[in-house]
Amino acid sequence: MRQRRIKGLEEKLRRYNGGVELDPRLLKGRWNRIFVKEQPLYLELGCGKGQFASSVADARPEHNILAVEGNRNAMLRALQKAARRYVDYDTTRQTGSRETPPFEMLLPEGVFAADPEKAGIETVELEAPLYKTSEADCVYCVTPNLSFVNMYLRHVEDCFAEQELEGIYLNFSDPWPKARQASRRLTHRGFLEGYRRVLRPGGYLEFKTDNEGLFRFSVEEFRETGLEIIEYTEDLHAPGSPYRSAAFMTEYEQKFSAEGKPIFYCKVQFPG
Ligand SMILES: C[S@@+](CC[C@H](N)C(=O)[O-])C[C@H]1O[C@@H](n2cnc3c(N)ncnc32)[C@H](O)[C@@H]1O
Repeated sequence: MRQRRIKGLEEKLRRYNGGVELDPRLLKGRWNRIFVKEQPLYLELGCGKGQFASSVADARPEHNILAVEGNRNAMLRALQKAARRYVDYDTTRQTGSRETPPFEMLLPEGVFAADPEKAGIETVELEAPLYKTSEADCVYCVTPNLSFVNMYLRHVEDCFAEQELEGIYLNFSDPWPKARQASRRLTHRGFLEGYRRVLRPGGYLEFKTDNEGLFRFSVEEFRETGLEIIEYTEDLHAPGSPYRSAAFMTEYEQKFSAEGKPIFYCKVQFPG
């Protein structure tokens, strides 16, 4: 069933890019420059409404988090939630002064947009066809260490340079249940080879799902691709679960856990 567009979607989305429709491919190799600090960069692919990315960014200020989502309705919800959460968090934080965003393009919520100049993008590049290749592909900046991208990412190498990422999160990825659709699964070996190229040696991937079939398929793909499984559970939220990943719940995870469904989880490392 086709999802109905949120009323005024485009106008609402524009509030979160400061009027700059920056194509994510232009930031390949220089993602860190759009954040307040240059620090290890983590990608969440298919972030949905963004709860996971926002809570990881709050809990780990020493990481930069980039959350990618292709669906425009979900992207807007993620941006709204993250901005609200940051502003609330920031005003209740008793540190005296707030870190000033490095860019001038302040948005109404007190968050900021990516500055192409600060990112080292030349005007000539902005005028080239890469600047806004389609309606959907756009970078949105929200808080000092969390940024969002609206695009369906098919090849990670289009947007990331070799070894640019420290880790990748895949949460409740679409299962694509038919055998002929297997190559679309984000844990298919085709994607894994791409992740290997953009992750630094020793980087890792964390994967959560409620879908047992997708989980078994993924574990097989991890093994076949030579990845080392360093954490594995078929019930992430069982009492006494030792896994830190259990602390950061996605919207889907909350819903399925509340229904009593077990959450499958696995963390794999890409050898150096
Ligand atoms: C089943 S939802 C899960 C959302 C969220 N991770 C959660 O756990 O609540 C999967 C999401 O991934 C997005 N998605 C799937 N493939 C994607 C891709 N290649 N690039 C960006 N987003 C993608 C879909 O649009 C959808 O919103």
